[in-house]
Amino acid sequence: MKLTVLLPLAVAASAAPSRRGSHHGSGSGSQQSINVQLGPRPYFLVDDMDDGPLKDTLSSCKENTPHTSHWSIGHRGGGTLMIPEESLESIKAGIRMGAGIQECDVTFTSDMQLVCRHSQCDLHTTTNIVATELGAKCTEPFTPADPESGTEASATCCTSDITLAEFKTLCAKMDGSNSSAVTAEDYLDGTPSWRTDLYAQCATVMTHAEFIKHVDGTGLGLHFTPELKTPEVDMPFNGGNYTQQVFARQMLDEYRAAGIAASRVWPQSFLYDDILFWMQQEPEFGAQAVFLDETGDTDETFPYAVGNLSTYAQDGVRIVAPPLYYLVALDDEGNLVPSEYAAAAKELGLDILTWSLERSGRLGDEDRGGYYYTSIANATDNDGDVFGYLDVLARDVGVKGVFSDWSATVTYYANCFGL
Ligand SMILES: *[C@@H]1O[C@H](CO)[C@@H](O)[C@H](O)[C@H]1NC(C)=O
Ligand SMILES: *[C@@H]1O[C@H](CO)[C@@H](O)[C@H](O)[C@H]1NC(C)=O
Ligand SMILES: *[C@@H]1O[C@H](CO)[C@@H](O)[C@H](O)[C@H]1NC(C)=O
Ligand SMILES: *[C@@H]1O[C@H](CO)[C@@H](O)[C@H](O)[C@H]1NC(C)=O
Repeated sequence: MKLTVLLPLAVAASAAPSRRGSHHGSGSGSQQSINVQLGPRPYFLVDDMDDGPLKDTLSSCKENTPHTSHWSIGHRGGGTLMIPEESLESIKAGIRMGAGIQECDVTFTSDMQLVCRHSQCDLHTTTNIVATELGAKCTEPFTPADPESGTEASATCCTSDITLAEFKTLCAKMDGSNSSAVTAEDYLDGTPSWRTDLYAQCATVMTHAEFIKHVDGTGLGLHFTPELKTPEVDMPFNGGNYTQQVFARQMLDEYRAAGIAASRVWPQSFLYDDILFWMQQEPEFGAQAVFLDETGDTDETFPYAVGNLSTYAQDGVRIVAPPLYYLVALDDEGNLVPSEYAAAAKELGLDILTWSLERSGRLGDEDRGGYYYTSIANATDNDGDVFGYLDVLARDVGVKGVFSDWSATVTYYANCFGL
């Protein structure tokens, strides 16, 4: 772990929460404040850190009053580690834990209404659909496991298989499934042991418009980062006039309809053409478009991902968002340092957001935290190392925000360093 001497920002962080008026619903999002609560987890992680200056600094912030930070981005809501993703309850938890920007992954129903789901075809693992009558409408209805042939249980259920009215009857649950299930009810049960079903008692599925209304309705001046999910059906949908561009514009129209200023909206997509479309046809929103980059997942493709950054910059893209591990490398002594990707993005003047902390597992487990920690796996062995990772991202890479499945961890760091 990297050791640096830090100046705690205890004064800024412990100042009384600011109350700057309370006029609701204005486009720019006027600000109130709430009683932000971080719960025990950030404290547990600080205690679990290796000794050193960073631990000392973070420890010195333990009694500060937490507050909302735009550096803390609620991934799929921000309560996702323990609360069903993309649900009203996850959004509420993320906001309570200080997330200043909220995410809804945006996809569409068969009647072309926008809803929050992490992908168009994940209803079989994120809701109870297979155990309801709607299961019969799935692209691939539930098929039980066959222990004799060794075939696993399967299903594929898409939001575009059902209408909005049908979607609204579903219960959101923790993402997962039981591949040896012989009944649809058993199939629902697949939550990893480090998550929990404690809050999965029929969590509330949301439309994109409901998401906007709830987040804006807090009066906290929160920002929005809707992700246009890449369709898993052919576009135009149903051979009609519902093209990718109609879909891409519809998502922004819902902010206009709600009176939300474009300056509060950070539209994301993995499809480069969506980013170019917004920049050309929706310049106000396009100026804040976030290109999600997953083109460098292997040692072979990583150099191309770095090389492509200059194309994005030339095209006028201002914000890129790669997974966490693209940005951090290990030096010869095993210290965490900015990667080539981070250096190139900085050099080109690109802003960086990154995803997703607290998502793929625990740093202290046998997988060393899984996918999102790939590049630092050899240098980590305890859960508290997550703060060393955040520290390099914040202070050496200079990221503008971090998506997290448990917003408290990122908020704690952001508050302590005045981000
Ligand atoms: C998975 O399904 C099998 C077969 O239906 C069942 O015996 C088992 O208890 C299920 N596992 C979980 C964790 O629900
Ligand atoms: C698409 O077609 C339908 C039916 O023909 C029409 O009602 C609708 O306005 C069209 N939408 C757009 C965006 O052109
Ligand atoms: C990134 O680089 C690869 C390999 O050079 C190229 O095939 C791809 O089209 C590039 N992607 C973009 C979005 O420019
Ligand atoms: C981790 O260490 C192993 C063994 O020294 C090495 O083979 C591997 O490439 C390292 N992984 C990374 C991501 O640096």
